[in-house]
Amino acid sequence: MKTHPDARRWNHRYTQGGDGWLNGRPRRLLLDFVRLLPASGLALDAAAGVALHGLFLAERGLHVIALDISEVGLRLARQRARVKEVWLETAVLDLSSPWLPANTFDVIVNFSFLERATFPVFRRALKPGGLIFFETFLKTDPNVDYPDHYLNPGELRRAFSEFEIIHHAVTEVTGECSARQKITEQLIAQKQK
Ligand SMILES: C[S@@+](CC[C@H](N)C(=O)[O-])C[C@H]1O[C@@H](n2cnc3c(N)ncnc32)[C@H](O)[C@@H]1O
Repeated sequence: MKTHPDARRWNHRYTQGGDGWLNGRPRRLLLDFVRLLPASGLALDAAAGVALHGLFLAERGLHVIALDISEVGLRLARQRARVKEVWLETAVLDLSSPWLPANTFDVIVNFSFLERATFPVFRRALKPGGLIFFETFLKTDPNVDYPDHYLNPGELRRAFSEFEIIHHAVTEVTGECSARQKITEQLIAQKQK
């Protein structure tokens, strides 16, 4: 079977980057709003990579499922979870044709990844009262390569407009990010109880 080009690209990056990827820090959005997280429950780290955010959630007591198209990233995540002795399961999944069970997750995190097909799937997959933490890059340059990978202004907020919006901001990523576009849109929203 042919390997998906994104899987090839990211497997290569994670192989080259080795442990470097594991030394990154979770995004400020999650650190600043850590008080919102439940003490237990099931979380989904979507397009997790090496699951920096999933591991952070697992260390706080949540059970975490990390999904990504890169098996190399997920292998690094599992290794780190074993060392930390936390509950983190992984599955290789192409999120461009996502399916998730309904009313299953207490928390979903999606960082630095955009696949619009996930919006309705995330809305459905959260339990009532469940939280989504979403942050990814905003299209500030109309001539950017891969324009579909960037949010249009307000798009994220509209996608979760039926949820209670707890936090919404447009912000600049500093330091850790190598992407050309560095302006992100952040959203924390809660599904109706
Ligand atoms: C910029 S990284 C972000 C990783 C992680 N969320 C973080 O913030 O550290 C983007 C991730 O999206 C994954 N990815 C790319 N295309 C994908 C797809 N179609 N389905 C699932 N994951 C995908 C890549 O393998 C990579 O791990």
